[in-house]
Amino acid sequence: MRTLNIGIIGVGVVGSAVVRILEQNKSLISARAGAEFCLKRGVVRDIAKAKERLGGVAIPLSSDIDDVLEDESIDVVIELMGGIEQAYQVAKKTLQKGKALITANKAMLAYHRFELEQIARGIPIGFEASVGGGIPIIRTLKDGLGSNHILALRAILNGTSNYILTQMFEHNKSFAQALSEAQNLGYAEADPTLDINGYDAGAKLLILASLAYGINALPEDILIEGIEGITSDDMEFAKEFGYVIKLLGIAKRHEDTLELRVHPTLISQDSMIGKVSGVMNGISVLGDCVGESMYYGAGAGGEATASSVISDLIEIARDTHSSMLGFSESIQTSLTLKAREEIASKYYIRLYTQDKPGVLGHIAQILGDNGISIKAFLQKEHEDRGTAKLLFSTHTSTESSIANALKAFESLPSVLTKPYTIRIED
Ligand code: HSE
Repeated sequence: MRTLNIGIIGVGVVGSAVVRILEQNKSLISARAGAEFCLKRGVVRDIAKAKERLGGVAIPLSSDIDDVLEDESIDVVIELMGGIEQAYQVAKKTLQKGKALITANKAMLAYHRFELEQIARGIPIGFEASVGGGIPIIRTLKDGLGSNHILALRAILNGTSNYILTQMFEHNKSFAQALSEAQNLGYAEADPTLDINGYDAGAKLLILASLAYGINALPEDILIEGIEGITSDDMEFAKEFGYVIKLLGIAKRHEDTLELRVHPTLISQDSMIGKVSGVMNGISVLGDCVGESMYYGAGAGGEATASSVISDLIEIARDTHSSMLGFSESIQTSLTLKAREEIASKYYIRLYTQDKPGVLGHIAQILGDNGISIKAFLQKEHEDRGTAKLLFSTHTSTESSIANALKAFESLPSVLTKPYTIRIED
């Protein structure tokens, strides 16, 4: 049986799980791959810490990335270092040296996936671990659903934020408490801001969109909002009207435009995606032939992500790899990104106002002036006497109308804090 030599750059939570599973499930993995894998070297910043993390499994460790990149005998480089620019340089050099690349780095791929595909010129690049942790969604879109036009994707793509929202919704925990738990459980990024502000989910949505639509968009091109502003008032409104709040990545195909957005979303408690809780990820795909199919599983954590990394290793060993982003020829499509202000949705609006006659009238007037129709309304007492919490949902409107209405609310002396809005999906 032939042997593939591997270098791993970054032996943290995921890297150490890759090393452990390759040892633990060795004969199964070799039987599937038709090859044996030899871990030639791991590159880490802190060798002592990595040894501790690896427990009994010993692999040669170094702190110099070139010990992997310049080693002629290494066939596959697994990049788990994180970050964007340095990781991109490593990925580029790996391919230029003729080595296969496996990366879990969604932030880097969000910017450089199309360049890497060009540089690779057929050298395999595996990135199953970059989206959805252990869920094999990359292969599903590239291969399993290959005959379908993808009409829509609705996805929970960040385990940390889903964990936080679930804890807030089900256990009334505070945002800070839930975040600190997610960090202790190893779900969060080194910089958890990216989990919370929607950029981690945004990077993953962009990767999925390239596989589904062949579209090359960057994080700056799409609407991305995080979960930082969500409060217990929003959770209360959600419960009262049969919703949950989820950080959703949404892709919707219109005739010649594509809507891509990531934001907190009110969605029915009865929907499949609404039932995805805790650190789990869920991806609903609507294809023109297959209809809706749903993919569910652990979206973060060492073992689950390592499972995807090793699936790439098996594919590389089998030598049956396809082009990185799943199109042998670029698809001739006139699909362009829909302008943000034209995106249509239903909305929830939270306002804290003075509790006095006429206030609601002014608010309703502004909504009416902007063509926004109210669907449901809830007024709650505020802890501060004299202040009212006004919670609305609307019928379908557009981003530009809502933005204008929010601006007008802010200019009212009776509106006490910045208005907050969450989009609603049916
Ligand atoms: N921090 C990510 C998450 C890990 O919470 O989903 C997987 O990308």
